[in-house]
Amino acid sequence: MKIFLDTASLREIEELRGFIDGVTTNPTLVAKEGRPFLELVEEICRLVEGPVSAEVTALDTAGMLAQARQLARLADNLVVKIPATWEGLAAVRELSGQGIPTNVTLVFSPTQALLAAKAGASYVSPFVGRIDDRAGDGMELVAEILEIYRNYGFDTQVIVASVRHIRHVVEAALLGAHIATMPYQVAKKLLDHPLTDLGLERFLADWKGVPPAHRPW
Ligand code: G3P
Repeated sequence: MKIFLDTASLREIEELRGFIDGVTTNPTLVAKEGRPFLELVEEICRLVEGPVSAEVTALDTAGMLAQARQLARLADNLVVKIPATWEGLAAVRELSGQGIPTNVTLVFSPTQALLAAKAGASYVSPFVGRIDDRAGDGMELVAEILEIYRNYGFDTQVIVASVRHIRHVVEAALLGAHIATMPYQVAKKLLDHPLTDLGLERFLADWKGVPPAHRPW
């Protein structure tokens, strides 16, 4: 499973650059950075080798297409993020015909994901955390989307999004999701573990008990 960082922070991307396969952003994350949008996205695309999703803000198909073309000109690894609306999917159909990759976002139902795949989306982003926040089951949605895509041989990739904790990442991987995108704080926890730190501390303390003459370093 690929690991994407869900952020627009260059500092966070820089720190985890060697460990991540791509980046997803959204208008909320971009707003936090206080930078001109296109300039920021272009920098992120330069920093990351894999796909970088940047979202349109227009609500009508023509407006989305105009913004999508502007975004797509920024870099070869740019993926246009488009909401799961009728207007959005009309834009996805058009962009997919032109070879511009798309990520259909704000996906909360299997039928939205089915229509997104039929429109030619490269990626779909089910928001598992926001579903769980409302006492739903975000992972159940991911499982259903994956099964539907398998049934019909769609090559649209599933990005498990709105990840809140590392259990979401484990469950996404167990289900065979293609990608999980997560905030920096969650990505850090994929490796950090207090028992690893404690164990290392103890090993190094015990190592001091080996006489200096017996230690090669
Ligand atoms: O980028 C889309 C998604 O990951 C947002 O997550 O935490 O705002 O629900 P969240």
